[in-house]
Amino acid sequence: MSRIKLMCGNWKLHKTIAESVELATAVKNAVGPLRDVEVAVAPVFTALHAVAKRLEGSAVVLAAQNCFWEDQGAWTGEVSAKLLKDVGCKYVIIAHSERRQWFGETDAMASLKVRAALRNGLDPIYCVGETLAERDAGEAFHVVGRQLEGGLTDLTAKEAERLVIAYEPVWAIGTGRTASPQQAQEVHQFIRGKLSEKFGNAAEAIRIQYGGSVKPDNASLLMDQPDIDGALVGGASLKADDFLKIVKYRNS
Ligand code: PGA
Repeated sequence: MSRIKLMCGNWKLHKTIAESVELATAVKNAVGPLRDVEVAVAPVFTALHAVAKRLEGSAVVLAAQNCFWEDQGAWTGEVSAKLLKDVGCKYVIIAHSERRQWFGETDAMASLKVRAALRNGLDPIYCVGETLAERDAGEAFHVVGRQLEGGLTDLTAKEAERLVIAYEPVWAIGTGRTASPQQAQEVHQFIRGKLSEKFGNAAEAIRIQYGGSVKPDNASLLMDQPDIDGALVGGASLKADDFLKIVKYRNS
């Protein structure tokens, strides 16, 4: 099955509204009409509306970096999947390792968020990945398996087809230390196997992105792997030139 690769820039806590619009404009102008790759950008919440307006009519789509699991109510400070849909998002990143590490997000919370996203018409990008200590202890598969089990509960195969999984080994995020294409492929293949146990044939449609120090010079070897269906790009997505080289990895 041929899966369209999804390249998503995760801008994290960077850029003002004006800077976000500037970067989104550069990405939009350079990608043109896309056929064999889908491009998304995930700005900070406060820039979503302005970036959505700027991206109107272009092939670049909008993603949010997080969402809450209830649609509305007395939840001071939260932003619901419903509102992210309202502002124009197509995707929402869920349970990024920085959320797990610094905000205590668990697989159970992720599961609620994944369901909230699907219920509101957003496609979840569910992040999984082991720490260095876990990898060194030989527990990478075990940890990723547990995160998939805990974060993806009560989904039908039809819903599962809308999932994107991002495998992001924590030791590779922002460290300049990328997983080798073989290391990544091995885990991606394991993830696809797990998804197929859970959702049957739908697993073939689910895109599994790699994230963790993806750069212009390593994107193409990673993307050549059979089970790597795109990239979640942090640092390198903040510079239009670098992100575009990754998006256009086939030409490099
Ligand atoms: P990085 O971040 O590309 O800067 O390693 C990836 C991510 O955290 O999504």
